[in-house]
Amino acid sequence: MDYTDEVMSLPAQVLSSAPFELERGYRHIVFSGMGGSGVVGRIASEFLSVPVVLVDDYSLPEYVGKEDLLISISYSGNTEETISVTQMALERGMDVVAITSGGRLSSMVRKVVKVPGGLQPRAALGYMLTPVLETFIGREFRKERVVEAMRSVEGRQEEIGGLAKEIVSGRLIPVIYGFSPFRAVAYRWKTQFNENAKIMAYSNYFPELNHNDTVPLKGTYRKEEFKFLVFWPPEDPRIGKRIEVTEQVTGSRFQRIEAISVDRVSRLFELIYYGDLLSLRVAHERKVDPRDVSVIEELKGRLL
Ligand code: PA5
Repeated sequence: MDYTDEVMSLPAQVLSSAPFELERGYRHIVFSGMGGSGVVGRIASEFLSVPVVLVDDYSLPEYVGKEDLLISISYSGNTEETISVTQMALERGMDVVAITSGGRLSSMVRKVVKVPGGLQPRAALGYMLTPVLETFIGREFRKERVVEAMRSVEGRQEEIGGLAKEIVSGRLIPVIYGFSPFRAVAYRWKTQFNENAKIMAYSNYFPELNHNDTVPLKGTYRKEEFKFLVFWPPEDPRIGKRIEVTEQVTGSRFQRIEAISVDRVSRLFELIYYGDLLSLRVAHERKVDPRDVSVIEELKGRLL
């Protein structure tokens, strides 16, 4: 499949995914995963109403044990850190659900949510995220509305293309500002710019950034080298006020990326898809291959 088709299969991925069964109640839901797979837990942590622990390293925290569930996510099923965490969880007697297309992970764990193979991990987000959200917040997840929201993004190609051209012609570093429950989406945009478009990018979120980023924003430090983007509108009016006051006191202008769907899960997918398509357009403008992450593969190979 052409990589553009992979990225644009997100709505179809959402439609074809299903929830999984939970065997019992758990104290914590622990997510393990890296990169394009790790972002699933980060996003889910802002939507689940159960205590969540995120692990993007080799080890489980000491306090995690039999009362907790590990959801181990690796698209390839071979990511070293995720395998290590899964091994630790099994040794501690924990229940584990693996979300993967295969690899070592699929043979370590009894309960596997198998996702279709052959895609880039970051282009398979719909297959990995949808089962998690449907399992934990099923009633809030209205698939038809979510897909409709993503279709509306496909209709904004001109706006997306214009933004991509501006970033590339100005050699600008995208700075993406989010807020709850879309902090992880801002991070997803950063990682999509990195991997798809092969450019540096930075993300932060309100209100936290008012206690750090605001200082260089006020100064003149290489401001012209960045493209400031902010999701819009925030759910909390206090955040809306912060965004506006931050622009006023620092003399900055953040371009609004509007998510207009009625429900927050639809807005979530709207923003994810917008960022995916934008990073793809930046890659095309730069004439780089958005699929190629051979340096990550080389690094993984050298660590074996
Ligand atoms: O999107 C990518 O290619 C990477 O960010 C991978 O997701 C990351 O290296 C982890 O690999 P995997 O998703 O196979 O566990």
